[in-house]
Amino acid sequence: MKDIIELIKSRRSVRKFSNAPVAEADIDRMLEAALWAPSASNRQSWKFVAVKNPSVIKEMAAAVRAAAEKLKSQIEDEDNASAFGGYSGYFTFFESAPVVIAACFNPRPNFVNVLSGKNLRPDDNLEQTTAVGAAIQNMLLAAHAMGYGACWMSGPLIAEPELIKILKLEGLRLAALIPVGVALETPAAPKRKPAGNLTGKVE
Ligand SMILES: Cc1cc2nc3c(=O)[nH]c(=O)nc-3n(C[C@H](O)[C@H](O)[C@H](O)COP(=O)(O)O)c2cc1C
Repeated sequence: MKDIIELIKSRRSVRKFSNAPVAEADIDRMLEAALWAPSASNRQSWKFVAVKNPSVIKEMAAAVRAAAEKLKSQIEDEDNASAFGGYSGYFTFFESAPVVIAACFNPRPNFVNVLSGKNLRPDDNLEQTTAVGAAIQNMLLAAHAMGYGACWMSGPLIAEPELIKILKLEGLRLAALIPVGVALETPAAPKRKPAGNLTGKVE
């Protein structure tokens, strides 16, 4: 196992995949990594579904494509519509992966609000969304450690209701799709902003 910092820094978002399958045991290891993420009050209000059926993956991509086209047609500003059109490929490339993991969370009212009877914090599912994010990062790192490429994708959420229906996950919210497979590209590391601007210390 590589040093954890080295593993974190060398992980890349991979958007091109070969047809090679992902071993069942490796999918299970990724899902196991997800389930060991921290969650508020250890509620584990999440669900991770690995989609391997190519026709279901195609159906999901078609739903996202249709939602993107509809949205584009509704954008009045031509430049914005064209810029949005340029992005839509970034919403659908998951269809080239042999496995797509749907990461979901269970929407729940903020428990501090529930217990206190006050609206102290907006009911924004902050705990659920941040916890599922930790689980997604665990999966990405597990995939990377096993030699696979993967990508965290929120773009497909433009078709969240359709995807929830296709996957029969009614009652849950979709946080991301994560395509996983053997990488067909070696992306360069996108630059990070200087640490000095984004970190601080209070001593
Ligand atoms: C919340 C979130 C949503 C993202 N959604 C998409 C997406 O829909 N499509 C895509 O191509 N990349 C997506 N990405 C990947 C980012 O573009 C990528 O992490 C960033 O450019 C840094 O590159 P790296 O992951 O290789 O370090 C997403 C990343 C995050 C954290």
